[in-house]
Amino acid sequence: MLGTPVFVMGGLSQAIAVYADSYVTFKEATHLVALLLLVVGWICLKPEEGQEQDGQNSTSTNGEVSSSYPQNLANCPHLEITRKRMQEIKDYHVISQTHVLPYSYLCQIYHLLNLKHLETVHNLSLSNLRIVGVSQASATETGGCIKFQTVLDSPFNVLRMWRQPVVEVELTLHSRYTVELSIPAYAGKRMIVLFNSFPIEENLHELSINIYTDLRWPRPVMQFCLHLASLMTLYEDLPYLKNISKNVEHLFRSNRNINHEAMWLIKRFIDLYSSEYEVA
Ligand SMILES: [Fe+2]
Repeated sequence: MLGTPVFVMGGLSQAIAVYADSYVTFKEATHLVALLLLVVGWICLKPEEGQEQDGQNSTSTNGEVSSSYPQNLANCPHLEITRKRMQEIKDYHVISQTHVLPYSYLCQIYHLLNLKHLETVHNLSLSNLRIVGVSQASATETGGCIKFQTVLDSPFNVLRMWRQPVVEVELTLHSRYTVELSIPAYAGKRMIVLFNSFPIEENLHELSINIYTDLRWPRPVMQFCLHLASLMTLYEDLPYLKNISKNVEHLFRSNRNINHEAMWLIKRFIDLYSSEYEVA
């Protein structure tokens, strides 16, 4: 969108310079040839929708599941659940980010399922968002879903650009590795953030973040804003993840008997996958 008008402007500027006098100088001719080569290169090399990103990223632009998970997960039924969900919403895919973080994947899961951290850790990026209470919790075979009310207190909260001040957000544990956050936007639209946390080694995991929406904003603007927001929340999360990593197994164990509604999904994860953290 930006490149093409820039080249058109450059071409017009060069053409005016050439026809302003009665002859073409060597400098003008060189500039014209260089511009022509750049335009041809720009058109020929323009990335197409759905084409894979560079080799460093393991998630393609249409949000397919990462291919860099450890080989021992290749036939894991939990990955099939993730693939199925990503397939269902792939038409609304906007951005992907993949990060390798030096913590156990359980730290990431604990962090994602802990509602309270949205108020405490993300008080800057979410501009003092408040969680009012959990309205519904339901279990599935491989996870569960909770619905909770969130409130934007401040009239200057940047999130008001795309959502109402009070909305019911859904947090879903799809499988051992996948968590989804679904937030209502204006006019019945939604913003969905799908987090995959794949173990690589004991204290290393891959976090892939895929964001989907049916909001009809200009795509480049939306991609820019969502990449920025995603990086900012990750930056806020890093000290918190580091803190959790010191005693993640203890954190899971200590929440086993807690009946607080905000911890319902963590308890569900414990009930289903306790063998994951009850290691020798
Ligand atoms: Fe977070």
